[in-house]
Amino acid sequence: YMTLEDVDVSGKRVFVRVDYNVPLDEHGNIVDDVRIRETIPTINYLIDRGAKIVLASHLGRPKGERNPKYSLYPVAKRLERLLEKTVKFLPDCVGRDVEEAVSSMKDGDVVLLENLRFHPGEENNDPEFAKALASLADIYVIDAFGTCHRKHASMYGIKDFVKPVVMGFLLERELRYFEKALVNPQRPVVAFLGGSKVSSKLGVITHLLEKVDKIFIGGAMAFTFLKAQGYSVGSSLVEDDMFDEALSVIEKAKKLNVKFYLPVDFVCGQAVSEQTPVMEVAWQEIPKGWLGLDIGHASVTLIKEILKDAQTIVWNGPMGVFEIEKFKFGTFSLAHAIAESPALSIAGGGDTDYAIHKAGVVDDISYISTGGGAFLKLLEGKKLPCLEAITKRD
Ligand code: 3PG
Repeated sequence: YMTLEDVDVSGKRVFVRVDYNVPLDEHGNIVDDVRIRETIPTINYLIDRGAKIVLASHLGRPKGERNPKYSLYPVAKRLERLLEKTVKFLPDCVGRDVEEAVSSMKDGDVVLLENLRFHPGEENNDPEFAKALASLADIYVIDAFGTCHRKHASMYGIKDFVKPVVMGFLLERELRYFEKALVNPQRPVVAFLGGSKVSSKLGVITHLLEKVDKIFIGGAMAFTFLKAQGYSVGSSLVEDDMFDEALSVIEKAKKLNVKFYLPVDFVCGQAVSEQTPVMEVAWQEIPKGWLGLDIGHASVTLIKEILKDAQTIVWNGPMGVFEIEKFKFGTFSLAHAIAESPALSIAGGGDTDYAIHKAGVVDDISYISTGGGAFLKLLEGKKLPCLEAITKRD
């Protein structure tokens, strides 16, 4: 694939598709700006070389309509602070005004376009819309790793209208770490998976079994695995229609000689709330009317044991309802245990990134992916369609 370093960007209009789909609170304030900060190296590289930088992203799911709730304006303000430089915000992403604003840019200028998804053409991969975006670019950079599983106009359709399309530094780094962890890893490779639904992680679990040496499944998924084997799990969350799948995962692990672990104890409550009474019990002793909401101390000891000889660690999904103080122990302990391990560690996918930040161990994880769905696609062993849009090296 061609990367930024393969092209001469000075004086050129460089269109950079980023993923600034960041969480906002009810007042429109940015709650977490990691996705913005992670694009700074690409932008600074372009500024230093005197490119004219046109940034574009989606935010939320405005369904093809202009909606001020999903404006990227607050992102432009945050970016200005991070870059210590003026970022001109344009109130649309295509059209005459945008073309004029871009054509009057000076070398080193940065503009951010308004939300691409205010136009239905973005998600429909409409060639006309792709063409309009491409007309703003001499060089097109894809740095939106988090959106690489979406075949949208700005991520995919543009390839028919602009050359070259190159990878930005964020995308390159994501793929490099993924390769280190799961394509050519140092062994043993250990995976920790959490979250509530086996149904949404089945593809990930099945694929990882072929790649790892040990796998630990926590979060509410564990109860589906226990119940499928005939154990009682009190009132814990269970997916009854996934028992066959759960059993065949266990079977497959055996066949492939992958060590398969479930938690050995749980912190239980009577409701998913801050006020509930709690107790910690062994895995086979969850009483009626109680539900497991976190893993317990013995499970954390087991996790540390599993990690002892690990050379590579992959982590996706929380071990419990960590948003509630009483049930954060397992997820935070796992974050700390991974942080303390000298192994190469990669983590990602939605809540995981947030949990790592809350646990305060960001600097001790080798790589935290900026992707949610895109990271999971890679863990499932699927190709990211948008990589096809990138121009191949000769
Ligand atoms: C994400 O946050 O996973 C990406 O930005 C993609 O967003 P989407 O799920 O709305 O397409």
